[in-house]
Amino acid sequence: MQQSVIELLQSKQFTQQVALKGWVRTFRANRFIAINDGSTIHNIQCVVDFENTDEEILKRITTGAAVSIKGTLVESLGKGQSVEVQVESIEILGDSNPEEYPIQPKKHSLEFLRENAHLRIRTNTFSAVMRIRAILSFAVHKYFTENGFFNFHAPIITGSDAEGAGEMFKVTTLGANAPKNEDGSIDYKQDFFGKETNLTVSGQLEAETYAMGLSKVYTFGPTFRAENSNTTRHLAEFWMIEPEMAFCDLDGNMDVAEDFIKYVIRYALEHCKDDLAFLNDRFVKEEQNKPAQERSDMSLLEKLNFVVDNNFKRVSYTEAIEILRNCKPNQKKKFQYIINEWGADLQSEHERFLVEKHFKCPVILFDYPANIKAFYMRLNEDKKTVRAMDVLFPGIGEIVGGSQREERLDVLKEKIKALHIDEKELWWYLDLRKFGTAVHSGFGLGFERLVQFTTGMSNIRDVIPYPRTPQNAEF
Ligand code: 4AD
Ligand code: MG
Repeated sequence: MQQSVIELLQSKQFTQQVALKGWVRTFRANRFIAINDGSTIHNIQCVVDFENTDEEILKRITTGAAVSIKGTLVESLGKGQSVEVQVESIEILGDSNPEEYPIQPKKHSLEFLRENAHLRIRTNTFSAVMRIRAILSFAVHKYFTENGFFNFHAPIITGSDAEGAGEMFKVTTLGANAPKNEDGSIDYKQDFFGKETNLTVSGQLEAETYAMGLSKVYTFGPTFRAENSNTTRHLAEFWMIEPEMAFCDLDGNMDVAEDFIKYVIRYALEHCKDDLAFLNDRFVKEEQNKPAQERSDMSLLEKLNFVVDNNFKRVSYTEAIEILRNCKPNQKKKFQYIINEWGADLQSEHERFLVEKHFKCPVILFDYPANIKAFYMRLNEDKKTVRAMDVLFPGIGEIVGGSQREERLDVLKEKIKALHIDEKELWWYLDLRKFGTAVHSGFGLGFERLVQFTTGMSNIRDVIPYPRTPQNAEF
């Protein structure tokens, strides 16, 4: 029976006959083949008796070739591995011309690998990152299912703009000859859905409708934003996890966010040990190449353990503004955006200052000014702030955004009017406030930002298989 590399490496049944398939990573001294099949970061060493192997076959054992091997599992005397396979027969399943195959056994730049995103999964770094991504995804479903949440599939095509930011990709079947209204605008009544539609920017509003029947739900789906941000933390297509809870206020919401993040990171620490050990070494080496003041004073594993073991610091927006106004980089005009007064929107430089320099731990900021946040957030008694919360992480900035929702019909209607949103568009959302309304809250976690933090990768494009960013949708 065929076995995976991880099964063979963990096996202690020596002298058993084994069969394995995988890809050649390296072939040295015409004798030692390192085979990897993606089941683990580690390769298995297969030893060929080259004197008794056809020279034509030996020539075809090149980096990237797919091979099928039969042999005996033996204890290895060599350094770096406990078992190896003594090859009895080897078949080349698919050749890989060394003159052409881009992924050679040497260090490739992340930029080069992005251009070869269809092959980059065959490197140690990307296979480690993507295995961790898969484990984290499983942990997300496990956490919510174990805590009484139901997974809810929000629609991907929608007529609503949940965040009100207008950064949406249009969905239409109308072409260049689209029918026009009398005023020259496109007549979407004649479009496929009979109205203007777009790819979802958030499943929240629909999740709220289900929370008002199932009490605790969560979405985990693709999310699209046409914001022209060419940063290391933004994608045009990303995956978001959005829990929504009836009968839960902002404090309860913060408790769940913190507990959830700690759970999934702890799950990765326990279930991705080899991959994290590899990425930890990589992280430490990368940090050494940075200028001293930008260097992280913790290794990747230390950072992950720190998050799991410490309380997140909860700070109001108003307190944060006071800290920022009086801090050195603000006084010395080192920030790109200087904080002068209450009401200013926080940029990632401010968020990172609070987390990395001031509090030196993850921070949950809450009670933001109403006018820099979305329409659906619950207005506080002061009439100036809303029950919003953002979770801020070192190196990442905002990893979670959420709020307690406005459950009072009259207040919500006022908000909608003030923001010139068409009430008719949100009739079903307003219905929730008419029939059995209740305090409820939720948040959104950007899955790629979580994967970025857990793997220590500095660019978000390197934690999703095929990144979509401005001017880039190859593959
Ligand atoms: O703060 P945001 O915009 O919040 C919402 O969409 C709410 N509807 C969530 C809710 O309350 N249910 O986005 C939530 C998170 C951010 O904190 C960030 O981690 C991630 O989604 N995110 C992005 N990740 C990658 N690329 C982008 N362009 C992102 N925009 C937001
Ligand atoms: Mg946000």
